[in-house]
Amino acid sequence: MSAIIESQNLNLFYGDFQALYDINLAFEPNEITALIGPSGCGKSTFLRSLNRMNDLIDGVKIQGKILFQGNDIYAPHVDLVELRSQIGMVFQQPNPFPFSVYDNVSFGLKLAGIKDKAQIDAAVERSLKQAAIWDEVKDKLHQNALSFSGGQQQRICIARVLAVSPEVILMDEPTSALDPISSAKVEETMLELKEQYTIITVTHNLAQAGRISDRTAFFNAGKIVEFDKTKKMFLKPAKQETADYLAGKFG
Ligand SMILES: Nc1ncnc2c1ncn2[C@@H]1O[C@H](COP(=O)(O)OP(=O)(O)OP(=O)(O)O)[C@@H](O)[C@H]1O
Ligand SMILES: [Mg+2]
Repeated sequence: MSAIIESQNLNLFYGDFQALYDINLAFEPNEITALIGPSGCGKSTFLRSLNRMNDLIDGVKIQGKILFQGNDIYAPHVDLVELRSQIGMVFQQPNPFPFSVYDNVSFGLKLAGIKDKAQIDAAVERSLKQAAIWDEVKDKLHQNALSFSGGQQQRICIARVLAVSPEVILMDEPTSALDPISSAKVEETMLELKEQYTIITVTHNLAQAGRISDRTAFFNAGKIVEFDKTKKMFLKPAKQETADYLAGKFG
């Protein structure tokens, strides 16, 4: 195992409420890992702890470590803008800014102080191509991103994350607000992206987890029940609780 990002003995509290218990998970580079489990089990909480998005929530207390490329992301003096460019996030609802496609995708580069237009143009094109949306937007780069379909907006949001050259992409139910055809396109995009990036995605769609993920982590009530190669877990779960969840008996 040579994990790119891992949690070590992670406990997370919202005030007095403990949402995560002693989570130890290590994520392999160039794989897709699916986080599954019933509503409220802590999937989003865990995902947000991987790039410190929980810092934005009042009263959150975290114990344990998240190591990214061996370094603790909760150490003092970590630059959060840089951290979140290395570990990007895509949300359930596509959330493009109400600007043009070009301005959305170039946003992070401009934030990072890059001014060279040729360099920005090249990054915008590369990112939109990698997010498999270039052909649909290349003649409309100056059109408002909100004027595109939900599935197109989601791929524009993926391009926005890619533009700042992340290593890890976190996705929280990235297709659950999309129609089946748009979902399928985003799934295809994810499979292409894992050649270059590491993807950790939350999904309630077990068929999707089965189709696209290399490994699956099953959460229940703030704990990891089982973490294994997806094929192995789906065919031969080690725990009865996992078998029951996969069979639709709860959640
Ligand atoms: N900002 C918050 N303040 C207090 N409690 C929270 C907060 N966010 C989440 N929780 C609680 O933490 C637990 C885990 O929530 P989380 O959103 O991580 O679950 P989830 O597995 O992503 O669920 P879903 O599948 O419904 O998205 C739940 O009990 C939830 O109510
Ligand atoms: Mg969630």
